[in-house]
Amino acid sequence: MLGQQILNYRITAKIGEGGMGSVFKAQHTQLDRPAAIKALHPNLVSNAMIRERFKNEAATMAHLRHPNIVSLYDYLETPQGLFLIMEFVEGYPLDRYIQEVSGPIPEARALALFTKILEGFAYAHQQGVVHRDIKPSNLIISADGQEVKILDFGIAKLLDGSTKNLTKTGSRMGTVLYMSPEQVKGGMLDQRSDIYSLGVTLFQMLTGRCPYDEATATEYEVYHQIVNFPLPRLQEFYPGVSSRMQALIDRATAKNPEDRFASCDEFKAALLGQTALPKQSPALQKPRRFLRLPFLRPKGGLPRDRGGAKMAGFGPRPYFYALPWWV
Ligand SMILES: Nc1ncnc2c1ncn2[C@@H]1O[C@H](COP(=O)(O)OP(=O)(O)O)[C@@H](O)[C@H]1O
Ligand SMILES: [Mg+2]
Repeated sequence: MLGQQILNYRITAKIGEGGMGSVFKAQHTQLDRPAAIKALHPNLVSNAMIRERFKNEAATMAHLRHPNIVSLYDYLETPQGLFLIMEFVEGYPLDRYIQEVSGPIPEARALALFTKILEGFAYAHQQGVVHRDIKPSNLIISADGQEVKILDFGIAKLLDGSTKNLTKTGSRMGTVLYMSPEQVKGGMLDQRSDIYSLGVTLFQMLTGRCPYDEATATEYEVYHQIVNFPLPRLQEFYPGVSSRMQALIDRATAKNPEDRFASCDEFKAALLGQTALPKQSPALQKPRRFLRLPFLRPKGGLPRDRGGAKMAGFGPRPYFYALPWWV
């Protein structure tokens, strides 16, 4: 694609690669202004469901106009392919920003940046859009660390029912690391699922890493953690984090959506100290340590995946399960 021209845009560089296609930097030939172009993968152009999902991404973005959300310029279906033309955002995806630029972000700075993220999502939710794929790689941070824009409405859903339900496959695409318990279970999602993923994202901003590690745990193990256990304590990963931040994250990432902040505005008010955090449920207060007990292997052997193979990661290790202290 490099060097190619799509209508008035000349492609100058590749900036991203995802499940559905690639993202390029381009220059408008007359206006001399940059743009980012997301191109549907040529192999997928003939797949009607994927075309529909791609168009849905553009239609969702077309609904949204906010300083913290990337703007859509245009959507094109041409003989060259399907393209989503958007504002080019200078900066780093938040995961790379943390890894390469900032390291764990000090609380005061994290608070200022995260407030902007919450404002963007509060607006999207008010427009009836649930993002469903909030994670650091879908947030771009300016090089000075002050500005942020939300990207990638690829599996977002308009709650008003005006778009067809393209869910299931869409909602299980990509990593599970930032997904809410109801999302990994394939349940109904509303804005409170986004609030959970925002809590995990804030965790990563403050500690420099995700609470789970796909390099050492299988997807099944992460899934199990998400559904059954509170997130690891922030201080396990970064000792300097305050208990106030811990309380905010506990609230945002409560297993039960009812126990989370009901809206991003509520999350923001608590973050800024404008509202007291309600008393935590006992389940969130203390489960610092777990009693590890040997687990009796179930008859019929270890869990198996759909193909019948033993689940990776359960092989030679002793098979434990953990009971929280208070049980
Ligand atoms: N408008 C943009 N400006 C700058 N970079 C972008 C833009 N859109 C996407 N990118 C880059 O491309 C990557 C993939 O884009 P994204 O929309 O998240 O697609 P995918 O569905 O493949 O995850 C992002 O993580 C980001 O690095
Ligand atoms: Mg993405």
